[in-house]
Amino acid sequence: MLRGIDLVLEPGTTTAVVGPSGSGKSTLVQLLPRFYDPTHGSVLLGGVDLREVGSQELYRRVSFVFQDVRLLRASVADNIALAVPHADRDAVVRAARRASIHDRILQLPRGYDSVIGEDARLSGGEAQRVSIARALLADTPVLVLDEATAFADPQTERAVREALAQTRQKRTTLVIAHRLETIADADTVVMLCDGEIVERGTTAELLARNGAFAEFWKIHAGAGAGAGAGADACAGVMEGEEAR
Ligand SMILES: Nc1ncnc2c1ncn2[C@@H]1O[C@H](COP(=O)(O)OP(=O)(O)OP(=O)(O)O)[C@@H](O)[C@H]1O
Ligand SMILES: [Mg+2]
Repeated sequence: MLRGIDLVLEPGTTTAVVGPSGSGKSTLVQLLPRFYDPTHGSVLLGGVDLREVGSQELYRRVSFVFQDVRLLRASVADNIALAVPHADRDAVVRAARRASIHDRILQLPRGYDSVIGEDARLSGGEAQRVSIARALLADTPVLVLDEATAFADPQTERAVREALAQTRQKRTTLVIAHRLETIADADTVVMLCDGEIVERGTTAELLARNGAFAEFWKIHAGAGAGAGAGADACAGVMEGEEAR
């Protein structure tokens, strides 16, 4: 559960969300593609409440890549072209290539026309790459990412990271960051503890503050990006208090 969230994503910037497991990172970023609506307050996109934005319009403006991908029971091509229904096949294939999923799609019984859940049965990692192809093709102004990506092989991971890094340059990105590199590259870092934003700023600012984020960073740098690393970082945070 999130409380007292007051967050502005400046156009064209990258905001990294960090915090221990269970602190509310996924819950927070999933508000943007409307996996949930807030029980209090609202999420505005260009000044408009998301609840007033139609789903096609939302697809055109917000794309996302999460770990737990659910694809539509539709052709692979239609899944990739979700936000751009009139995309031609060349554009779909280009996006699939950049997401390192093209070759796998060609192995399916009907290639790009294979239907998810019928003759296209994809692994979690493959489904995720389809969702990355979708995000690349959609080319939306807003991109939401959960960096906790576990790809089968490092080559694919690198290709996909590069493709996503390119698209991130010109858009507003909200990323659940696990790698120190991603955190350091972000324009703004938002640290969550138990559903609340406890610190925000650049990496340098937050490290200088020597608070929860600095602790989190230290634990991460020592432990590597293991899930749950940094759980102790929030221990010293006072309830409901954002350090400024
Ligand atoms: N659908 C749900 N209904 C009720 N509580 C939920 C739901 N999903 C998550 N939670 C709770 O909300 C809190 C925040 O969960 P969330 O998934 O946002 O954490 P997280 O920061 O993304 O953690 P992780 O790093 O492990 O992915 C947790 O205590 C979790 O148990
Ligand atoms: Mg999560």
